[in-house]
Amino acid sequence: MDRISLYWKNATAEAVGEKHGVNEKELKGLAPQIKNLTKQMADERKAGKLRYRDLPHDEEMLDAVNREVEHFRDQCEVLVVLGIGGSALGNIALQNALNPYTYNLLSDRQRAGPQLFVLDNVDPDQIKSVIELVTPKIKKTIVNVISKSGETAETASQFILFRDLLQSKLGKKYKDHILATTDPAGGTLRKICDEEGFRTLPVPPGVGGRFTVLSAVGLFSAGMCGIDVEALLQGAADMDKRVKDGDVLANPAALLAAIHYALDQKGKKISVMMPYSTSLYSLADWFRQLWAESLGKQNGLTKKNVFAGQTPVKALGTTDQHSQVQLYREGPNDKLIQFLEVERFATKLAIPDSLKRVPTLQYLAGSNFQTLINSEKLGTEYALKESQRPTLTVKFPQISPHTVGQFLYLYEVAVSYMGGLLDINTYDQPAVELGKEATYALMGQAKYAELARKIQPLVKRDAKYMV
Ligand code: PA5
Repeated sequence: MDRISLYWKNATAEAVGEKHGVNEKELKGLAPQIKNLTKQMADERKAGKLRYRDLPHDEEMLDAVNREVEHFRDQCEVLVVLGIGGSALGNIALQNALNPYTYNLLSDRQRAGPQLFVLDNVDPDQIKSVIELVTPKIKKTIVNVISKSGETAETASQFILFRDLLQSKLGKKYKDHILATTDPAGGTLRKICDEEGFRTLPVPPGVGGRFTVLSAVGLFSAGMCGIDVEALLQGAADMDKRVKDGDVLANPAALLAAIHYALDQKGKKISVMMPYSTSLYSLADWFRQLWAESLGKQNGLTKKNVFAGQTPVKALGTTDQHSQVQLYREGPNDKLIQFLEVERFATKLAIPDSLKRVPTLQYLAGSNFQTLINSEKLGTEYALKESQRPTLTVKFPQISPHTVGQFLYLYEVAVSYMGGLLDINTYDQPAVELGKEATYALMGQAKYAELARKIQPLVKRDAKYMV
């Protein structure tokens, strides 16, 4: 089996010194907590309270996704996904990891499915460009609107626009071009679906947006674009077996969390994810939401004002060696750098030896890009270690649905452990609300009139501070 693995020697005190690395004693000190958390998670799971853990085994959900893919595939040349946050980042990560870089530019015959656009912003220029692209192909366009609530301003506004577009071009048939992924029981979007008769897929009840990539939320667009969703779920299910172990040194999710936690306590308040693979870069975006929203909490479960959290940062190897590594080596020693490494790339690409005569380029001649990118990764790992900067590596034997499924599940469980160690509620996001409500207020929602009044002083710019 192609197992992803975690290599953590360069995060140890042995490698980077006591002050900046984690030592075995510290990890062993966390062993009882890890054991308890493992048991607690198993109990919660049994009680149906940790639904995301069961998604890799949810056959009913998989059948529903496959049914919708089957239904829409032949009539679809462009798939537009409307969603934001947990309703978009997983879709983007899967597509970029598992389909070619140029996927959308390939011809209909070359592509494994429709062109895919995930609109996770309300930038009018961006939206207009997609509207212009889909309008001539409207009969072959499917819109997958993903929103648990249906009230998220970004997704709702886009949905209103695309629904109008479809209706104006296709008349009554517009509803055949919409698939809504939403709460199965209630909410604004569910109500619209019931009234207008759209096909639907469920957002799994009790699963927060950032844990939904392995549900219908992430799997429909993946399946439409030819990604093997069974293999993806199998990868997650295989990782599930590995993360049930209560031994901190044997369970990769517990170990990831324990290392992060121990280093957080030593002032490593930033966790960088740096894939040495462009395909895996969007996984770092997905990780950022998971780590930030789950762990950034003012109040703990038992203590107030703990201000927990690590700032997740994304970087791309080798690109950011020429942009960030100067800072990572000589700036504040406040980061853990997580490399994602690919052992075997799908492509063996040689570097021709036609310039062998140039002495300074001789080392490249006749080599290949896989060796180069992995040498650069090792070189950076070495350079960081020399500067006492802790790093760890998650190694993908290859990039495949099976290994990506393992990765997603690994980090989901790791964040559960990390939240447990930090003694916070990993699954809520109370601080997201105020900004959302302020938007409703500024957009004129009557219910928020009082808030709109409070925001008024901000609306009027103070000329004194304008230069
Ligand atoms: O992780 C989360 O819960 C959020 O990022 C949500 O997914 C995001 O706000 C979208 O919410 P909704 O699905 O209700 O539109």
